Amino acid sequence: MFEKIIHKILFFKKDSSMNSKWKNYYSITGNRKPRETLKFAIKQFETETFLAEPYDAIDLGCGSGRDTIELLLNQWRVTAIDSEITAIEGLMQRTDIPAKASIRTICSRFEETLFPSPVHLVNSSFALPLVPPNKFPALWENILSSLITGGRIACQLYGERDSWFGNPRMTFFSHSEIMALLKSLNVELFREEEEDSKTPRGYYKHWHIFHIVAQKF
Ligand SMILES: C[S@@+](CC[C@H](N)C(=O)[O-])C[C@H]1O[C@@H](n2cnc3c(N)ncnc32)[C@H](O)[C@@H]1O
Repeated sequence: MFEKIIHKILFFKKDSSMNSKWKNYYSITGNRKPRETLKFAIKQFETETFLAEPYDAIDLGCGSGRDTIELLLNQWRVTAIDSEITAIEGLMQRTDIPAKASIRTICSRFEETLFPSPVHLVNSSFALPLVPPNKFPALWENILSSLITGGRIACQLYGERDSWFGNPRMTFFSHSEIMALLKSLNVELFREEEEDSKTPRGYYKHWHIFHIVAQKF
């Protein structure tokens, strides 16, 4: 408990210097493998034939591109959105962007952005929780309306037992709230994870994560 409180204080303090905070995160995680939720979603599209290629995706909170690159390598056309200019610059400087890649970037807060539409996939790895609770419902609606019928959302959301619970700039869900959120979708992957481990920047925390891939029908 004491460790949790200390961690929260450190987190709120660090959060005030957003730019350097994310810069470190990008240099530590940028070249890591794509997220499992994204890989699963891409595979789901490969097993279907009713949606025509080329596929369009939005990568919300793209960071320096660990998922964006995977989409591009799979010939997806990608709109990568992030509020941090360092993320967008880092992504566009990557040398592993394929030669004929179709990539567009938008540097903006996603809750203030009108998404391109219709798209086949909205991918948002570890970014949607970073929105204040009063902005989340409209953001979720914006995501769902940007999806084509048969399109998918791949994302992580945080649960109430996460160490960061209580941060007013973030959104957390109980199990039943998540179920209500996903009610109108065909849930293809749902994994609830709880573990104590370090953040990419080296802070210990309790993670309570919902990993989700769901299809609009
Ligand atoms: C934890 S990182 C995840 C990056 C990448 N998706 C990944 O899986 O490694 C969260 C990213 O979301 C971006 N972000 C956070 N809140 C945002 C918002 N409201 N609008 C746009 N981008 C946001 C941050 O700048 C950061 O690049």
